[in-house]
Amino acid sequence: MKLIIKDSYEECCKAGAQLFIELINRKKDALIGLATGDTPKGLYKELINANSKWEVDFSNVRSVNLDEYKGLAGDHNQSYRYFMKENLFKGLNIKPENITIADGLAETSAEEKRMREFFAKNNVDMQLLGIGRNGHVGFNEPAEKLQSSFHYTDLTQDTIEANSRMFDNVEDVPKGAYTMGMGDIMRARQIVLLAFGASKVDAMTKLLKDDYVDPMCPATVLKMHPDVTVIIDRELAGLLGL
Ligand code: F6R
Repeated sequence: MKLIIKDSYEECCKAGAQLFIELINRKKDALIGLATGDTPKGLYKELINANSKWEVDFSNVRSVNLDEYKGLAGDHNQSYRYFMKENLFKGLNIKPENITIADGLAETSAEEKRMREFFAKNNVDMQLLGIGRNGHVGFNEPAEKLQSSFHYTDLTQDTIEANSRMFDNVEDVPKGAYTMGMGDIMRARQIVLLAFGASKVDAMTKLLKDDYVDPMCPATVLKMHPDVTVIIDRELAGLLGL
């Protein structure tokens, strides 16, 4: 695992964006795996900025998102499809037909099948990840067994509470979601994980400092991947004693 420590959130986002820009400049039709949440917002701004200056061209790039809330329509302002449109896609020259995101309103087994077929045919070139404070990646929540393929999952109370900051009431947070499985994530050729803030210290300790792979902290599975870049700011590095 390669660790990059930068002085600020902005510097981390620039370093992460640069990895995606270099990939797309050498592989015009790269399939990039994308995340939502607070973590990637700055990286997405960097990509929009680079695209607007023609330092990178998204016209042949394909994207797939890690996850989507079950039960929300794509145009709901808390759906991940909406987040992606507002925070990234509307600023890029990416083609709508090259964007893949699970449909929160689709019937569960049909949507799992559709997305599993997608991952059977396509390998992600570079996967962007944040990390949950409980160590989840995508919505692979801590559990005795982790699921390999794309699937529906119930969300843990911890994740519902963490995500309630985006909703008016905690009761409005969907109780379930679709997510890429750990196997789909591990098949990505390269993985870039960004993390910031004190709430991530426990999970990041398990990822960076312990030597265990623990399904109760799903991110630790990434230790078995040959090409992972972790980017954190100096503040988090300090809290981790790095
Ligand atoms: C989002 C996702 C989640 C987040 C994680 C961290 O698509 O898959 O695993 O990356 O919950 O969220 P933030 O970045 O808001 O701290």
